[in-house]
Amino acid sequence: MLEWSNRHAWRACGQVTGPWVRIPPSPPVEEMEQIYYQIFEALPRQGPGDERSTKRAFHKLAGLPEHPEILDVGCGSGGQTLVLAKLTPGKITALDNHAPFIEKLKRNARRAGCAERIQCVVGDMNSMNFPKGSFDVIWCEGAAFVMGFNNALKAWRQLLRPKGYLAVSELVWFKKRAPQEVKDFFAREYPDMKHYKDIYPVIESSGYKMIDYFPLPGKSWWTHYYTPAEKKLASLRRKYRNDKKAQSIFDSFQLEIDMHRKYSEYYGYGFYILQKAKS
Ligand SMILES: C[S@@+](CC[C@H](N)C(=O)[O-])C[C@H]1O[C@@H](n2cnc3c(N)ncnc32)[C@H](O)[C@@H]1O
Repeated sequence: MLEWSNRHAWRACGQVTGPWVRIPPSPPVEEMEQIYYQIFEALPRQGPGDERSTKRAFHKLAGLPEHPEILDVGCGSGGQTLVLAKLTPGKITALDNHAPFIEKLKRNARRAGCAERIQCVVGDMNSMNFPKGSFDVIWCEGAAFVMGFNNALKAWRQLLRPKGYLAVSELVWFKKRAPQEVKDFFAREYPDMKHYKDIYPVIESSGYKMIDYFPLPGKSWWTHYYTPAEKKLASLRRKYRNDKKAQSIFDSFQLEIDMHRKYSEYYGYGFYILQKAKS
Protein backbone atom coordinates (compact mmCIF):
# COMPACT_ATOMS: atom_id res chain seq x y z
CA MET A 1 0.00 0.00 0.00
CA LEU A 2 2.79 2.36 0.90
CA GLU A 3 4.33 1.72 -2.46
CA TRP A 4 1.42 3.58 -4.02
CA SER A 5 2.03 6.72 -2.02
CA ASN A 6 5.69 6.69 -2.92
CA ARG A 7 4.92 6.28 -6.59
CA HIS A 8 2.75 9.35 -6.37
CA ALA A 9 5.58 11.15 -4.69
CA TRP A 10 7.73 10.49 -7.74
CA ARG A 11 5.10 11.93 -10.00
CA ALA A 12 4.46 14.91 -7.77
CA CYS A 13 8.04 15.86 -7.00
CA GLY A 14 9.97 14.34 -9.88
CA GLN A 15 12.21 12.80 -7.28
CA VAL A 16 12.05 10.05 -4.80
CA THR A 17 11.01 10.55 -1.19
CA GLY A 18 10.73 8.40 1.88
CA PRO A 19 12.98 5.37 2.02
CA TRP A 20 14.44 6.19 -1.39
CA VAL A 21 16.04 9.49 -0.48
CA ARG A 22 19.43 7.94 -1.03
CA ILE A 23 18.75 7.49 -4.74
CA PRO A 24 20.36 10.22 -6.84
CA PRO A 25 17.99 12.99 -7.98
CA SER A 26 16.11 12.94 -11.29
CA PRO A 27 15.47 9.22 -11.52
CA PRO A 28 13.83 8.21 -14.77
CA VAL A 29 10.26 8.04 -13.50
CA GLU A 30 8.95 5.78 -16.28
CA GLU A 31 11.69 3.27 -15.74
CA MET A 32 11.06 3.22 -11.99
CA GLU A 33 7.32 2.85 -12.53
CA GLN A 34 7.83 0.08 -15.01
CA ILE A 35 9.84 -1.92 -12.46
CA TYR A 36 7.38 -1.11 -9.76
CA TYR A 37 4.41 -2.26 -11.86
CA GLN A 38 6.17 -5.52 -12.63
CA ILE A 39 5.74 -6.38 -8.97
CA PHE A 40 2.12 -5.33 -8.64
CA GLU A 41 0.81 -6.66 -11.94
CA ALA A 42 1.99 -10.11 -10.88
CA LEU A 43 -0.07 -10.13 -7.67
CA PRO A 44 -3.63 -11.40 -7.23
CA ARG A 45 -4.36 -8.24 -5.21
CA GLN A 46 -2.60 -4.91 -4.97
CA GLY A 47 -3.23 -4.48 -1.25
CA PRO A 48 -4.33 -6.39 1.84
CA GLY A 49 -7.78 -7.96 1.64
CA ASP A 50 -9.60 -11.22 1.25
CA GLU A 51 -12.89 -12.68 0.06
CA ARG A 52 -14.25 -13.30 3.56
CA SER A 53 -13.75 -9.69 4.61
CA THR A 54 -15.38 -8.34 1.46
CA LYS A 55 -18.35 -10.65 2.11
CA ARG A 56 -18.49 -9.70 5.78
CA ALA A 57 -18.63 -6.01 4.91
CA PHE A 58 -21.17 -6.51 2.12
CA HIS A 59 -23.56 -8.42 4.38
CA LYS A 60 -23.85 -5.34 6.60
CA LEU A 61 -25.53 -3.37 3.81
CA ALA A 62 -29.18 -3.76 4.75
CA GLY A 63 -32.04 -2.77 2.48
CA LEU A 64 -30.17 -2.54 -0.82
CA PRO A 65 -32.22 -2.63 -4.02
CA GLU A 66 -32.28 -5.98 -5.79
CA HIS A 67 -29.88 -4.70 -8.46
CA PRO A 68 -27.70 -2.14 -6.70
CA GLU A 69 -25.37 0.19 -8.58
CA ILE A 70 -21.90 -0.11 -7.08
CA LEU A 71 -18.77 1.96 -7.67
CA ASP A 72 -15.48 0.22 -6.83
CA VAL A 73 -12.84 2.95 -6.53
CA GLY A 74 -9.14 2.06 -6.97
CA CYS A 75 -10.21 -1.47 -7.89
CA GLY A 76 -6.75 -2.63 -8.97
CA SER A 77 -6.99 -5.92 -10.86
CA GLY A 78 -10.36 -6.47 -9.22
CA GLY A 79 -9.77 -8.88 -6.31
CA GLN A 80 -12.77 -7.47 -4.46
CA THR A 81 -14.73 -6.54 -7.62
CA LEU A 82 -15.21 -10.18 -8.56
CA VAL A 83 -16.29 -11.05 -5.02
CA LEU A 84 -18.89 -8.28 -5.16
CA ALA A 85 -20.10 -9.57 -8.51
CA LYS A 86 -20.73 -12.95 -6.89
CA LEU A 87 -22.59 -11.39 -3.98
CA THR A 88 -25.04 -9.28 -5.96
CA PRO A 89 -26.73 -9.31 -9.37
CA GLY A 90 -26.22 -5.53 -9.49
CA LYS A 91 -24.00 -3.50 -11.79
CA ILE A 92 -20.47 -2.57 -10.75
CA THR A 93 -18.42 0.30 -12.12
CA ALA A 94 -14.78 -0.56 -11.42
CA LEU A 95 -12.33 2.32 -11.71
CA ASP A 96 -8.55 2.41 -11.55
CA ASN A 97 -5.96 4.65 -13.19
CA HIS A 98 -3.63 1.81 -14.21
CA ALA A 99 -4.89 0.33 -17.49
CA PRO A 100 -3.16 -3.09 -17.20
CA PHE A 101 -5.00 -3.74 -13.90
CA ILE A 102 -8.28 -2.98 -15.62
CA GLU A 103 -7.37 -5.29 -18.53
CA LYS A 104 -6.65 -8.09 -16.05
CA LEU A 105 -10.00 -7.47 -14.36
CA LYS A 106 -11.76 -7.66 -17.74
CA ARG A 107 -10.12 -11.02 -18.51
CA ASN A 108 -10.99 -12.43 -15.09
CA ALA A 109 -14.56 -11.14 -15.30
CA ARG A 110 -15.03 -12.81 -18.70
CA ARG A 111 -13.71 -16.04 -17.23
CA ALA A 112 -16.07 -15.73 -14.25
CA GLY A 113 -19.02 -15.02 -16.55
CA CYS A 114 -19.87 -11.64 -15.03
CA ALA A 115 -18.21 -9.28 -17.54
CA GLU A 116 -21.51 -7.80 -18.72
CA ARG A 117 -22.25 -6.52 -15.19
CA ILE A 118 -18.87 -4.86 -14.65
CA GLN A 119 -18.24 -1.56 -16.36
CA CYS A 120 -14.46 -1.11 -16.37
CA VAL A 121 -13.12 2.44 -16.33
CA VAL A 122 -9.53 3.62 -16.60
CA GLY A 123 -9.72 6.90 -14.74
CA ASP A 124 -8.49 9.11 -11.94
CA MET A 125 -10.45 8.98 -8.70
CA ASN A 126 -9.61 12.65 -8.16
CA SER A 127 -11.68 13.68 -11.16
CA MET A 128 -14.61 11.29 -11.33
CA ASN A 129 -17.52 13.00 -13.03
CA PHE A 130 -20.37 10.60 -12.34
CA PRO A 131 -23.66 12.44 -11.80
CA LYS A 132 -24.64 13.11 -8.19
CA GLY A 133 -26.58 10.28 -6.57
CA SER A 134 -25.46 7.65 -9.10
CA PHE A 135 -24.64 4.82 -6.70
CA ASP A 136 -26.24 2.73 -3.97
CA VAL A 137 -22.81 1.65 -2.76
CA ILE A 138 -19.27 2.96 -3.05
CA TRP A 139 -16.63 0.34 -2.35
CA CYS A 140 -12.98 1.17 -1.77
CA GLU A 141 -10.47 -1.34 -0.45
CA GLY A 142 -7.14 0.22 0.40
CA ALA A 143 -7.21 3.16 -2.00
CA ALA A 144 -8.92 6.08 -0.20
CA PHE A 145 -5.52 7.34 1.00
CA VAL A 146 -4.78 8.37 -2.60
CA MET A 147 -7.15 11.33 -2.12
CA GLY A 148 -6.67 11.45 1.63
CA PHE A 149 -9.21 9.57 3.73
CA ASN A 150 -11.14 12.68 4.83
CA ASN A 151 -11.23 14.15 1.32
CA ALA A 152 -12.40 10.87 -0.13
CA LEU A 153 -15.28 10.58 2.34
CA LYS A 154 -16.41 14.13 1.62
CA ALA A 155 -16.07 13.88 -2.16
CA TRP A 156 -17.82 10.54 -2.51
CA ARG A 157 -20.84 11.39 -0.38
CA GLN A 158 -22.49 13.32 -3.18
CA LEU A 159 -22.19 10.34 -5.54
CA LEU A 160 -24.31 8.24 -3.19
CA ARG A 161 -28.09 8.00 -3.24
CA PRO A 162 -29.94 8.80 0.00
CA LYS A 163 -29.07 6.12 2.58
CA GLY A 164 -26.39 4.80 0.21
CA TYR A 165 -23.41 2.97 1.68
CA LEU A 166 -19.66 3.49 1.66
CA ALA A 167 -17.49 0.47 2.48
CA VAL A 168 -13.88 1.53 2.82
CA SER A 169 -10.74 -0.02 4.25
CA GLU A 170 -7.96 2.15 5.59
CA LEU A 171 -4.55 1.72 7.21
CA VAL A 172 -4.89 2.50 10.92
CA TRP A 173 -3.13 2.11 14.23
CA PHE A 174 -4.70 -0.58 16.41
CA LYS A 175 -2.90 0.65 19.52
CA LYS A 176 -2.21 4.15 20.77
CA ARG A 177 1.34 3.22 21.78
CA ALA A 178 3.79 1.53 19.45
CA PRO A 179 7.55 0.89 19.31
CA GLN A 180 9.62 3.77 18.01
CA GLU A 181 10.83 1.87 14.95
CA VAL A 182 7.35 1.37 13.53
CA LYS A 183 6.26 4.86 14.57
CA ASP A 184 9.22 6.33 12.67
CA PHE A 185 8.47 4.18 9.64
CA PHE A 186 4.90 5.44 9.36
CA ALA A 187 5.82 9.00 10.23
CA ARG A 188 7.77 8.87 6.96
CA GLU A 189 5.45 6.70 4.92
CA TYR A 190 1.95 7.65 6.01
CA PRO A 191 1.97 10.59 8.39
CA ASP A 192 -1.84 10.89 8.17
CA MET A 193 -2.36 7.45 9.65
CA LYS A 194 -4.83 7.54 12.55
CA HIS A 195 -5.81 5.34 15.44
CA TYR A 196 -8.87 3.37 14.29
CA LYS A 197 -11.13 5.11 16.79
CA ASP A 198 -9.96 8.57 15.77
CA ILE A 199 -11.59 7.90 12.41
CA TYR A 200 -15.06 7.79 14.01
CA PRO A 201 -15.47 11.58 14.40
CA VAL A 202 -14.23 12.08 10.83
CA ILE A 203 -16.98 9.76 9.63
CA GLU A 204 -19.66 11.71 11.44
CA SER A 205 -18.40 15.12 10.40
CA SER A 206 -18.25 13.97 6.78
CA GLY A 207 -21.97 13.15 6.77
CA TYR A 208 -22.08 9.41 7.43
CA LYS A 209 -23.40 7.09 10.11
CA MET A 210 -21.17 4.22 11.12
CA ILE A 211 -22.80 0.84 10.57
CA ASP A 212 -19.89 -1.44 11.43
CA TYR A 213 -16.14 -1.65 11.83
CA PHE A 214 -13.80 -4.61 11.88
CA PRO A 215 -10.04 -5.04 11.48
CA LEU A 216 -8.86 -7.09 8.50
CA PRO A 217 -7.50 -10.42 9.74
CA GLY A 218 -3.72 -10.86 9.72
CA LYS A 219 -3.74 -13.42 6.93
CA SER A 220 -5.40 -11.05 4.49
CA TRP A 221 -2.03 -9.27 4.31
CA TRP A 222 -0.23 -12.42 3.28
CA THR A 223 -2.26 -14.84 1.16
CA HIS A 224 -2.88 -12.65 -1.88
CA TYR A 225 -0.43 -9.86 -1.21
CA TYR A 226 2.82 -10.11 0.75
CA THR A 227 3.48 -13.83 0.17
CA PRO A 228 3.25 -13.60 -3.65
CA ALA A 229 5.00 -10.21 -3.47
CA GLU A 230 8.01 -11.74 -1.71
CA LYS A 231 8.22 -14.45 -4.40
CA LYS A 232 8.06 -11.84 -7.14
CA LEU A 233 10.67 -9.69 -5.41
CA ALA A 234 13.06 -12.65 -5.29
CA SER A 235 12.74 -13.26 -9.03
CA LEU A 236 13.02 -9.57 -9.92
CA ARG A 237 16.11 -9.22 -7.74
CA ARG A 238 17.76 -11.83 -9.96
CA LYS A 239 16.54 -10.18 -13.15
CA TYR A 240 17.82 -6.73 -12.09
CA ARG A 241 20.88 -7.94 -10.19
CA ASN A 242 23.10 -5.14 -11.60
CA ASP A 243 20.54 -2.33 -11.32
CA LYS A 244 20.97 -0.35 -8.10
CA LYS A 245 17.81 1.69 -8.56
CA ALA A 246 15.71 -1.39 -9.06
CA GLN A 247 17.30 -3.04 -6.04
CA SER A 248 16.44 -0.01 -3.91
CA ILE A 249 12.78 -0.33 -4.92
CA PHE A 250 12.85 -3.98 -3.90
CA ASP A 251 14.57 -3.07 -0.62
CA SER A 252 11.94 -0.53 0.27
CA PHE A 253 9.06 -2.92 -0.44
CA GLN A 254 10.85 -5.61 1.56
CA LEU A 255 11.21 -3.15 4.44
CA GLU A 256 7.46 -2.55 4.40
CA ILE A 257 6.84 -6.31 4.52
CA ASP A 258 9.36 -6.84 7.31
CA MET A 259 7.78 -4.05 9.28
CA HIS A 260 4.45 -5.83 9.10
CA ARG A 261 5.99 -9.16 10.02
CA LYS A 262 7.40 -7.56 13.15
CA TYR A 263 4.68 -5.12 14.18
CA SER A 264 1.32 -6.33 12.85
CA GLU A 265 -0.25 -6.20 16.31
CA TYR A 266 0.14 -2.40 16.26
CA TYR A 267 -1.40 -1.53 12.91
CA GLY A 268 -3.39 -2.93 10.05
CA TYR A 269 -6.42 -2.23 7.92
CA GLY A 270 -9.72 -1.20 9.45
CA PHE A 271 -12.84 -1.91 7.39
CA TYR A 272 -15.45 0.82 7.89
CA ILE A 273 -19.02 0.31 6.72
CA LEU A 274 -20.80 3.65 6.58
CA GLN A 275 -24.19 4.93 5.52
CA LYS A 276 -24.89 8.33 4.08
CA ALA A 277 -26.67 10.38 6.73
CA LYS A 278 -29.19 13.13 6.03
CA SER A 279 -27.46 16.48 5.68
C1 LIG B 1 -3.45 -0.44 -2.58
S1 LIG B 1 -4.07 -0.65 -4.21
C2 LIG B 1 -5.66 -1.42 -3.86
C3 LIG B 1 -6.22 -2.17 -5.05
C4 LIG B 1 -7.44 -3.03 -4.79
N1 LIG B 1 -8.54 -2.29 -4.26
C5 LIG B 1 -7.08 -4.18 -3.86
O1 LIG B 1 -7.42 -4.11 -2.67
O2 LIG B 1 -6.45 -5.12 -4.35
C6 LIG B 1 -4.50 1.00 -4.68
C7 LIG B 1 -5.08 1.07 -6.07
O3 LIG B 1 -5.40 2.44 -6.35
C8 LIG B 1 -5.05 2.72 -7.68
N2 LIG B 1 -4.86 4.16 -7.83
C9 LIG B 1 -3.82 4.90 -7.39
N3 LIG B 1 -4.02 6.20 -7.69
C10 LIG B 1 -5.22 6.27 -8.33
C11 LIG B 1 -5.97 7.33 -8.88
N4 LIG B 1 -5.54 8.60 -8.81
N5 LIG B 1 -7.16 7.05 -9.47
C12 LIG B 1 -7.61 5.78 -9.54
N6 LIG B 1 -6.94 4.72 -9.03
C13 LIG B 1 -5.75 4.97 -8.43
C14 LIG B 1 -3.81 1.90 -7.94
O4 LIG B 1 -3.58 1.70 -9.33
C15 LIG B 1 -4.14 0.63 -7.18
O5 LIG B 1 -4.79 -0.30 -8.00
